[in-house]
Amino acid sequence: MLIKKYVDKLPIPKILKPDCIIDGMPYYEARMQQFKQILHRDIPATVVWGFEGVYPGPTIETNNYQSIKVKWINHLPSKHLLPVDTTVHGAGPGQPRVRTVIHLHGAVVRPESDGYPDAWFTRDYKQVGPHFTTKVYTYPNRQRAATLWYHAHAIGITRLNVYAGLAGIYIIRDPMQKHLNLPKRRYEIPLLIQDRSFNEDGSLYYPSQPDPPVPGVNPSVLPDFFGDTILVNGKVWPYLELEPRKYRFRIINGSNSRFYKMKLSSKSNFYQIGTDGGLFEKPVVTKEIMLAPAERADVIIDFSGLRGQNVLLTNNAPAPFPQGNLPDPGTAGQIMQFRVCLPLSKQDYSTIPYRLSTITYLKEKKAIIQRNLTLSTKPDIYGRSIHLLENKTWDDPITTKPQLGNIEIWNILNLTRASHPIHLHLVNFQILGRQPFDTEYYEETGKVLATGNTAPPDLNEMGWKDTVKANPGEITRIIARFAPYTGLYPWHCHILEHEDHEMMRPFEVVF
Ligand code: C2O
Ligand code: CU
Ligand code: CU
Repeated sequence: MLIKKYVDKLPIPKILKPDCIIDGMPYYEARMQQFKQILHRDIPATVVWGFEGVYPGPTIETNNYQSIKVKWINHLPSKHLLPVDTTVHGAGPGQPRVRTVIHLHGAVVRPESDGYPDAWFTRDYKQVGPHFTTKVYTYPNRQRAATLWYHAHAIGITRLNVYAGLAGIYIIRDPMQKHLNLPKRRYEIPLLIQDRSFNEDGSLYYPSQPDPPVPGVNPSVLPDFFGDTILVNGKVWPYLELEPRKYRFRIINGSNSRFYKMKLSSKSNFYQIGTDGGLFEKPVVTKEIMLAPAERADVIIDFSGLRGQNVLLTNNAPAPFPQGNLPDPGTAGQIMQFRVCLPLSKQDYSTIPYRLSTITYLKEKKAIIQRNLTLSTKPDIYGRSIHLLENKTWDDPITTKPQLGNIEIWNILNLTRASHPIHLHLVNFQILGRQPFDTEYYEETGKVLATGNTAPPDLNEMGWKDTVKANPGEITRIIARFAPYTGLYPWHCHILEHEDHEMMRPFEVVF
């Protein structure tokens, strides 16, 4: 199917309104439902999953230090929209096909509100998972202002639930940042980027088997999945009409497997002002922004010199990253179009401040412990390759138990051929650097032999992060303080096909 680009306006998700205030906390309800939505002018309406009748779900906005409560309600049908592989962990034949639990990615929350993968529930809570905690989640928002996103996280079917549409944006604001005078209101726009494929009838296409198929398993999880169509905020290749002035975009990569290396066709700069965990100290001026699944970039683009022009946001990240093929410039190589066609409604007084925020860098010598944690692959009993963390599966006993309040360094040793976006729940971390090492020597001896110098993080990784690209053959070193809560949390690869197929482990913060 040939899909015409830039015929639909970029939708801006509506802001979810609280139902009431309970104990001083706004209380929200968000119903997960199945419905039809038009994702492109020429594609027949698509059956999707979303929240409160929309995909992506409505945006939740709050100030920091304002706690809120959210009840995520499962009103989904009992039949899954997409092919469920019953051979992967937690999705066995005895389990209900449609299970959900929602995780707020980037949030510092108690374990019972974190959306643990085994804390899933079915419609009307008829069945709940082995770690089910509570129906109403509390988000304290005691953290830096940042762009977060919420998404489905049930064990073994996260890739399918997110692909079906269960994701939305969550913005924590800090009233103290008003003086920065960044572009705001209609000049501040979230962009949730996702790739999808479609069948002729408009339904979502997600293969039931890899190519070539795995004998004896159907449907089967895939090693990864790349759609040939790019959606932003739920529209296929949308356009956005703009005034010739500065805009702030909060960009989220909400794709299952696809990395994006973004550029502007006008060769203009991005002024990147923040990342996963909020604002940088200073803006980073760059022509290219790379986002792995779940990473975010807060950017300002100045369209003032581009009056009358159409500017494309393009992508040239190989898929899989970095060893795969470049995207087709006619399809996945394009994301959206900016049309600088509106008159300037009033003078643009917004600024790109030289000083954005203060970041306290964690000191290496304050780290109590360094852990070497491997990323590796091995075949499963069907001969498919599974990815492992710590050379262990999700259900193996917990071996990573940081003590509450301690600073730890995690050396992530990537023994595989692909880059994996590694995400930790509960904490934000800082990237110390990346260093090449001898993977064969490590496999033989279990010892780390560095083969080159440590490269510092990229300029636009020098802030608080919750997801980091761990490249093949490299030690990616991160530092974090494990606080303020004790309990069980997952860490995992955010390529959802990997996460569902063992590339996820629990860690437990202990007292
Ligand atoms: Cu964005 Cu554990 O996930
Ligand atoms: Cu998360
Ligand atoms: Cu991975």
